[in-house]
Amino acid sequence: MGSKISATGHYLPEQIITNDDLAKIMDTSDEWISKRTGIRQRHISKDENTSDLASKAALNILKNRNITADQIDFIIVATMTADAGSPSTACLVQEKIGASKAFCFDINAACSGFVYSLSTGIHLMQSNLYQYGLIIGAETMSKAVNWEDRSTAVLFGDGAGGILLERTEDDCFVAEDIHSDGGRHGALVSDTKKLKSPFSGTAEEEQSYLTMDGRAIFDFAIRSVPDMIRDVMLKGNLVEGDLKKIIAHQANIRLLEAISKKVKLPFSLFASNIADTGNTSAASIPILFDQLVQSKEIQLGTRDKVLMTGFGGGLTWGAIVVSLN
Ligand code: ACO
Repeated sequence: MGSKISATGHYLPEQIITNDDLAKIMDTSDEWISKRTGIRQRHISKDENTSDLASKAALNILKNRNITADQIDFIIVATMTADAGSPSTACLVQEKIGASKAFCFDINAACSGFVYSLSTGIHLMQSNLYQYGLIIGAETMSKAVNWEDRSTAVLFGDGAGGILLERTEDDCFVAEDIHSDGGRHGALVSDTKKLKSPFSGTAEEEQSYLTMDGRAIFDFAIRSVPDMIRDVMLKGNLVEGDLKKIIAHQANIRLLEAISKKVKLPFSLFASNIADTGNTSAASIPILFDQLVQSKEIQLGTRDKVLMTGFGGGLTWGAIVVSLN
């Protein structure tokens, strides 16, 4: 017993900001951004918060499976840009879609968040206690970045995507390989909260923007992700021909090319939408997953295997292989 992925969905805010739009408000250019990252545009929310994007993705998923929200047993939202410290974004999604019987929580593993959440959801379903679980990745990175810092602002976008896990005889789980290294947390920091109480030593600044050592993250990803892909394939007893697609976190197209070379898997196996969405952190894998389902490049209900892999702040990195039963 276990679960299968029985539906997918995503939602992107309507407003599109191109590289040329950015060049009007900061010292950058379409040439610099597209050459170094592969990004040409990103969707930026006007007034929708993370829970709004997540709820719209959730409603799309339910529509695609033709079930109602009150049938959902649990909702996990992967995000590093939650609406609030509390309540969780997942609880806000519960309210917005009317998933009255679900239990709900967030997972923060930055750009690896969807892999962490999918793993958690799949293993919850293996308990045989639940019928339906919603796993969503959702971010409003536009509220985390400093729009005066060209080295980060041009990279990120907003969006949400997700999948429905549904109880079945034949489990979709094949293998996983998941890691963290808190010792290197300084390479990507967002929304820093400092101690501020009558009893703390200092009353410092309460909040700060996202900062990233892009070179350090690039180097970490190029070392860790190929090893992880090899390890998860070994654990799943898989060879290249067994994989229909690799859906990697969309951080930088050059990075994906370098990973593909290093792991000696053809770049055509690596799906990508980064040109249109930028880096949407925990949302990037499920948005791309749904787009591949919609375009029929992957098909639910087949036995095709898909490898998903994320890497980012924490540091965190993880890979999971599922069969599209
Ligand atoms: N426009 C124009 N010039 C710029 C811009 C910009 N937007 N940003 C930086 N520059 C300049 C810099 O100032 C620097 O100029 P200098 O040489 O005169 O000092 C020059 O361009 C090169 O800057 P670098 O930072 O060295 O550029 P690099 O080639 O390393 O590319 C990038 C930067 C794209 C961020 C790359 O390092 C990268 O993709 N890293 C990985 C990021 C990643 O994977 N993040 C995922 C995790 S995100 C998460 O977990 C939420």
